[in-house]
Amino acid sequence: MSNYKMAEANNRIVPAEDKIFGISQKAKEMMAREGADKVVNATIGSLLDDDGKLVILSSVVEVVNNLNPIDFADYAPIAGTPDFMESIKKAAFGSYVPKAYTEAVATPGGTGAIRNTIQNYSKRGDQVLTSDWYWSPYTTIAQEIERTIATYTLFDDEGNLYIASFESKVNELLSKQDGLVVILNTPAHNPTGYSFTLEDWNKIISVAKAAVTDGKKKLTLLVDIAYVDYAGDEEEYRKFYPLLEDLPTNILVVIGYSLSKSCTMYGMRSGAMICMTSDKEIADEFKLVCSFSCRGTWSNCNRAAMATISNIYADEALLAKVTAERQGYCKMLVQRGKAFQKAANEVGLKTVPFDAGFFVTVPCENADAVGLELQKAGIFTVPIGKGLRVSVASISEEVCKRLPEAMLKAIKTVNAK
Ligand SMILES: Cc1ncc(COP(=O)(O)O)c(C=O)c1O
Repeated sequence: MSNYKMAEANNRIVPAEDKIFGISQKAKEMMAREGADKVVNATIGSLLDDDGKLVILSSVVEVVNNLNPIDFADYAPIAGTPDFMESIKKAAFGSYVPKAYTEAVATPGGTGAIRNTIQNYSKRGDQVLTSDWYWSPYTTIAQEIERTIATYTLFDDEGNLYIASFESKVNELLSKQDGLVVILNTPAHNPTGYSFTLEDWNKIISVAKAAVTDGKKKLTLLVDIAYVDYAGDEEEYRKFYPLLEDLPTNILVVIGYSLSKSCTMYGMRSGAMICMTSDKEIADEFKLVCSFSCRGTWSNCNRAAMATISNIYADEALLAKVTAERQGYCKMLVQRGKAFQKAANEVGLKTVPFDAGFFVTVPCENADAVGLELQKAGIFTVPIGKGLRVSVASISEEVCKRLPEAMLKAIKTVNAK
């Protein structure tokens, strides 16, 4: 029984306050009290420039400002405008041309793609599998539709993908369920910054194939590529796609793509879910059931965002401009991550295996207490169970260079025997 007066808990655990928002708020209050230069707010999940301002791609803004009234006043078709569905595939796949049946359905950000995949490819009460380090809204999304999250251990003691843990969890869950949705957030995983190597991908795919080889069970690999455009070379980080071709028909691949970061359109709520399958009927079914889910939740998505992307992809020069502008910011972010990693190595601060992206995670005992200790020094990070998440996306390279030493000091103070 819940303590709500009018609301129903419906098996959800609803926290009174969003944890990240709460810590970020404390950072803002300290900034107002003591000055911005006294505070490091490494909690924010958006890319900020070195002055702490939100990075906004000016080339995208230009396109938005030139939209026609019909582009935002009218409804969009439920699955997205035809131009958008083609453009978003190009955005997600880059120069790769899939040898598979693909269908795209527009969603409000990457979040909508995650929600619709869980809704359509698992049953109520099922468990959805992801790694032990994961973006906490996966739990919220799963709970909302009466599923729960199960985890495998992402890294072994050497910091390599712990494929044995993945394998045993996949098999355990498939022994209890008719099907399984697995969420793989790569490249530049939130919160660790890890990117699966091609070798990791090969291992994952062979486990997946072996798990459903008798044809009785179904597996959906949801590849959450929210950070694909901020890992480094855009082509390099898309090289895993061909490995997802020619899979058995009882393995469905769904790519969750978000325009929030890729086009700095966080607030316009746009993205897509794109399936890859070797069976045309399964692709058609994907379109049908996911469109139904859209209709039953948010109905259609933001038409202005669709028009923006369609216009960018209809004009080669414009696309080149947007890509170049984003690459500049990507470079800035990659340098910050490298600076943090280098400084961490120099002072002997351990990090969870990191490659690129918005976040670095520092593993530690008593993460909540270490987080509070850091706050005393004006440093705000997010405790996430077994460690502290640092958003290198929201702090300058200079701060990245000095943060590891301060973190090590706080860890030692709190955990001194
Ligand atoms: C791991 C991960 N997946 C998906 C998303 C999707 O976000 P949005 O719905 O804003 O596009 C995010 C955003 O922070 C994320 O961190």
